[in-house]
Amino acid sequence: MNIQMHFLTSTLVVLTQWLQLSSAQQYILTPEQERNANRTLSVGYVVYDGYTILDVFGPLQFLSDLSWPFDMNLSVIAKAAGPVHSRPPLHHGPDGMAMDMSKMVDAQIVATHSFETAPPVDVLIVPGGVGDLTLLEQKDRSIEDFVASRLDTTNYVMSVCTGAGFLARAGVLDGRRATATKRTWDHVTRHGKNVTWVPNARWVQDGKVWTSSGVAAGMDMMVAFLRHIYGDPVVNMSVNEVEYAPVVDPNWDPYAVIFKVSFPP
Ligand SMILES: *[C@@H]1O[C@H](CO)[C@@H](O)[C@H](O)[C@H]1NC(C)=O
Ligand SMILES: *[C@@H]1O[C@H](CO)[C@@H](O)[C@H](O)[C@H]1NC(C)=O
Ligand SMILES: *[C@@H]1O[C@H](CO)[C@@H](O)[C@H](O)[C@H]1NC(C)=O
Ligand SMILES: *[C@@H]1O[C@H](CO)[C@@H](O)[C@H](O)[C@H]1NC(C)=O
Repeated sequence: MNIQMHFLTSTLVVLTQWLQLSSAQQYILTPEQERNANRTLSVGYVVYDGYTILDVFGPLQFLSDLSWPFDMNLSVIAKAAGPVHSRPPLHHGPDGMAMDMSKMVDAQIVATHSFETAPPVDVLIVPGGVGDLTLLEQKDRSIEDFVASRLDTTNYVMSVCTGAGFLARAGVLDGRRATATKRTWDHVTRHGKNVTWVPNARWVQDGKVWTSSGVAAGMDMMVAFLRHIYGDPVVNMSVNEVEYAPVVDPNWDPYAVIFKVSFPP
């Protein structure tokens, strides 16, 4: 009850401020942003065992908050519908050593759809995670095949962290600029053809494709993306309510230095 009242009040505050801003013409929405305010944005989040928790739930926090003033729906898409684990499955290190991570805590998410049953989406997001190593070892290309099959019919394709590796292997990044986590830069950037990998970037937008650097950078990319879609006023109010200070400069990136990344690797 109290929470609902709070939500109602804060939404009214948001909308009032938005109207005030619009009427004062301090911030003018583009025609596309006005259209977006009236339509349902359909979001598809791809998940797999060993996904990185914040790569999924960081951006989802902002999507979820903005789905109150705007209409959105969410499909969580995996190889099979049902629970998907953050705990990385067994895989091997570069030296061939078995990596048994079964002692790690597990946060599960429930996939609502399989790749076969996933509905059309406007936005497709692929998170990073150690689970990509297991899929690579098993030569499992189901995520890449799914993403490639949806490229033409999806308005926006996004990745967080090592998620860029899936996009690169799916051919989504061919001839494009992109970025990825600096922590495992060489691992991700050896995929794809003629990709201009940008080391000094928090995120990169190239047309309909948005890629972010490691883990927390996905939240900054999502905030920038939501501003692009809906304009600043409502998004800023929502981000302030989360008490999150997003990086707004896509070129801000201390991590390329920390992880000694340059391109070509
Ligand atoms: C959006 O909806 C509002 C209210 O329903 C309407 O006044 C406005 O013309 C619509 N804008 C667009 C671009 O369709
Ligand atoms: C999301 O909304 C769109 C547009 O209304 C609709 O076509 C689609 O079926 C919805 N998807 C889900 C998963 O509810
Ligand atoms: C590589 O991509 C660039 C665009 O980034 C394009 O201009 C160029 O023709 C591409 N080269 C090849 C060999 O595909
Ligand atoms: C929204 O917030 C960002 C900082 O997070 C700022 O750069 C931008 O100017 C703000 N926009 C408006 C309309 O207040």
